Amino acid sequence: MSYQHRVVIPDRSFSIRLRSGPGPTIYLRSVPTATPDLFPARTGDGSLTLRSTLLDEPYHSMHGAVQESTHVFIKNGLEHLALPHMQVLEVGLGTGLNLLLTWIRCAEGKCTVDYTALEPFPLGREQLVALDHCNELAWPGLQEPFLQRMTSDGTGPWESAHGLCFRKLPMAVQDFRAEAVADLIYFDAFGPPTQPEMWTLEVFQRMHDALKPGGVLVTYCAKGEVRRAMQQAGFMVERLPGPPGKREMLRGRRRNADDTDGADGR
Ligand SMILES: C[S@@+](CC[C@H](N)C(=O)[O-])C[C@H]1O[C@@H](n2cnc3c(N)ncnc32)[C@H](O)[C@@H]1O
Repeated sequence: MSYQHRVVIPDRSFSIRLRSGPGPTIYLRSVPTATPDLFPARTGDGSLTLRSTLLDEPYHSMHGAVQESTHVFIKNGLEHLALPHMQVLEVGLGTGLNLLLTWIRCAEGKCTVDYTALEPFPLGREQLVALDHCNELAWPGLQEPFLQRMTSDGTGPWESAHGLCFRKLPMAVQDFRAEAVADLIYFDAFGPPTQPEMWTLEVFQRMHDALKPGGVLVTYCAKGEVRRAMQQAGFMVERLPGPPGKREMLRGRRRNADDTDGADGR
């Protein structure tokens, strides 16, 4: 079955395919206004996530949403790379928590970021307001630009605000093709048991292509088959300590001219 028919959440299954063939497939409005299967849930560190009753899978670790996102994507991605300006690509924008944590680093003056997020099933305003990420993170000043960009039907890019320029593409990662556009990829799909089609060699080859030489992809998942798919796609892969509740996570790096073979932690 192609991705267009194999959807994650049955009641969010419709989408209108505007364009296919070479280049990305563009979806017009993938999400009906009501998504009654999604409920806010408080995680172990006190922060909120969304839980889907149909998928029986939360958007973040129930041990702690902010804790997980900060550890995997910010500490081991953004802060590890530590460039003054970065092009970040996120796979699975979801509730926008990774976006906000990145935005806060920008607002603090630590870096500037061009942030592109892929999300074929964008959330509605009510769900984002219910999660109240900006106030929960004590950054009420980001609420207005965050909600405006997250809920707009447009794709941006929006004018840079607080050091971050945002663009969102309502497309599946399987339809995304780009060469050397990102310094950093936040790979934040639902887990392999829920969405195996996100964790394939083909997807990781696309991700590898999308990274600039020396760029990195971080993901919370540390499964052996995922690590091997990443290695086969060309990444040098490191296993790193995971966030609380998870032993390990993965970081893959696209080789650059200075890299020697065998440095991939196999
Ligand atoms: C684990 S959640 C992401 C959590 C998110 N990063 C956050 O901070 O809230 C996975 C996301 O992937 C999205 N998704 C599902 N299928 C996808 C696909 N084929 N390509 C890209 N994203 C997809 C889902 O709609 C969901 O929002």
